[in-house]
Amino acid sequence: MADDAALSNLSYEERVFPPTPEFARQANAQPSIYAQADADRLAFWEEQARHLTWAEPWSQVLDWSQAPFAKWFVGGRLNVAYNCVDRHVEDGFGDQVALQFEGEQGDRRDVTYRELQDEVCQAANALTELGVAAGDRVAIYLPMIPEAIVAMLACARIGAPHSVVFAGFSAEALRSRIDDATAKLVITADGQNRRGSAMPLKPAVDEAVADCPSVENVLVVRRTGGDVEWTDKDVWWHDIVGRQSTQHTPEAFDSEHPLFILYTSGTTGKPKGILHTSGGYLTQVSSTHRNVHDLKPDTDVFWCTADIGWVTGHSYIVYGPLANRATQVVYEGTPDTPGKDRWWDIIERHRVTILYTAPTAIRTFMKWGDEYPQGKDLSSLRLLGSVGEPINPEAWMWYRDVIGGNRCPIVDTWWQTETGGMMIAPLPGVTGCKPGSAMGPLPGVGAAIVDDHGTPVGHGSGGYLVLTEPWPAMLRGIWGDPQRYIDTYWSRWPQYYFAGDGAKWDTDGAIWLLGRVDDVMNIAGHRISTTEVESALVSHPKVAEAAVVGANDDTTGQGIVAFVILRGGVPAEEAEGDAIVTELRNHVAHEIGPIAKPRQIMVVPELPKTRSGKIMRRLLRDVAENRALGDATTLADPAVMSLIAEGLKSGADDD
Ligand code: PRX
Repeated sequence: MADDAALSNLSYEERVFPPTPEFARQANAQPSIYAQADADRLAFWEEQARHLTWAEPWSQVLDWSQAPFAKWFVGGRLNVAYNCVDRHVEDGFGDQVALQFEGEQGDRRDVTYRELQDEVCQAANALTELGVAAGDRVAIYLPMIPEAIVAMLACARIGAPHSVVFAGFSAEALRSRIDDATAKLVITADGQNRRGSAMPLKPAVDEAVADCPSVENVLVVRRTGGDVEWTDKDVWWHDIVGRQSTQHTPEAFDSEHPLFILYTSGTTGKPKGILHTSGGYLTQVSSTHRNVHDLKPDTDVFWCTADIGWVTGHSYIVYGPLANRATQVVYEGTPDTPGKDRWWDIIERHRVTILYTAPTAIRTFMKWGDEYPQGKDLSSLRLLGSVGEPINPEAWMWYRDVIGGNRCPIVDTWWQTETGGMMIAPLPGVTGCKPGSAMGPLPGVGAAIVDDHGTPVGHGSGGYLVLTEPWPAMLRGIWGDPQRYIDTYWSRWPQYYFAGDGAKWDTDGAIWLLGRVDDVMNIAGHRISTTEVESALVSHPKVAEAAVVGANDDTTGQGIVAFVILRGGVPAEEAEGDAIVTELRNHVAHEIGPIAKPRQIMVVPELPKTRSGKIMRRLLRDVAENRALGDATTLADPAVMSLIAEGLKSGADDD
């Protein structure tokens, strides 16, 4: 490949798993869907929008005249909550279970669509009583309990955009988000159950709200019980919601009415409030959930393991699945409480058919060992999904074999908080899947891989992933900062949306996501993706998980430094010795080529991750370059960095 290619193309995957004829026959999306979307992209999206119930039809599909600020289904009006709840009750499905909730301590509660409708109406009436009107922002800081979903839908119902803040974030993170959105109301709980104990939530809200003059009230769900400090702004959920009428007439809002703001991190410190609106967003999340997750509302039990604090929880727990009348599992807690088989136990008992989770979880389960899933009956599963980061081929194969019993298609879905819904993914009844590849753009989506000059590269080459056409669920901007929206996403190549990810086409035309472009290393003039080296390491039978960073190197520009967690069965003497390091370096050289051989490999007990499971490479880079650690406040487990420092004493390689 040419020397100036944006990313070297180093690995090649030959394994392909085509859909079985049985799966293909019953799949919601059939092969003709691609040709149909190619023939008329906007007509395709119109057809997807017709699955929703509109109070007034749109007069124009897309208005792109103010690019990059899009309007979809212009003039159309709908109520998002009505689409997710009421219409299913009106259609005779009031008794169908919408949520199969399971608390960490084992408490269970089934919520039917009729009960959900009653609660959403009551909550909507309560919000109105508290003075919240269409357009007002509501911050939601709740654990994974049914009230979180009810709260989001109640906001949608009255047209008050919600800003869900992950309940693992600190008071300061909450404060800055409430403040940026000038939220009028905060909905929270007294506490949440994590790893077998009750963790308080309310004190963080008290601390945040003390500095947020916009907040008029705090609505508090009682979850864990026990004493809580009370202020004159506080109102118990059970006091005010419980006494409301279960009748509430949903108002139809403009298709472009703001539905939610969700904060995500950027390259600068200040989080970006990603703004999503109603009609286009609901169209795309329901369409992708139907076509990629292949939901059959009468028979499937869907489980997306994300938290509502992330976009995956918004799009594939709340809006997409409920618009499609799914029955779904909602689980409050951690995967190892009370035991490391908790997820598999949930799947066995609820007879889950579709599982949507993240590579970081899959690799954790690989590390824990096959005996946990193998001890449970997972035969109800028929489709598996992955989201959030590149999935290494090795983890993909493990997911397929050990969890999917070799019979379930795997959909690796690429998208972002900003895209709102899935963009690049296989269709499970159509696409032959390669382990580790998200395969290709979904019908109606335009994607390309370009070089530094914005010129599309061909098969067999790598570069930057861009989206070439506006899409219905696209962000409509950054809350309060339209210029930052243009600068971040639309200025590098003004005709394209720049996703910030590296990607490559393989020679067969499948797309491989290679991580954020700031995760790209430059080794002696070759750009190498951290993901490819990580996948090579994880393909070694003794490695459970790996994180790779480029550390500054006088000779080569950057040197590759790898941090690896070994699998459970590797004896301690071996894990501490030098031989394993040599073995792994040679393995990478063998898998990718000598250029990718890590300069240093450190065997560590844990990796630093954010609460959403993303590896904090920045901190690892600090370690690799012998610097003092930078800001570690977003680490899920602050103790990890000292564990790594200890591990280094025994695992460093001075070759
Ligand atoms: O780098 C890509 C990675 O996650 C980023 C988006 O993160 P976030 O906005 O938090 O949304 C995560 C859930 C949609 C992307 O820029 N990413 C997400 N899915 C994949 C992925 N990388 C590779 N493969 C994926 N399937």
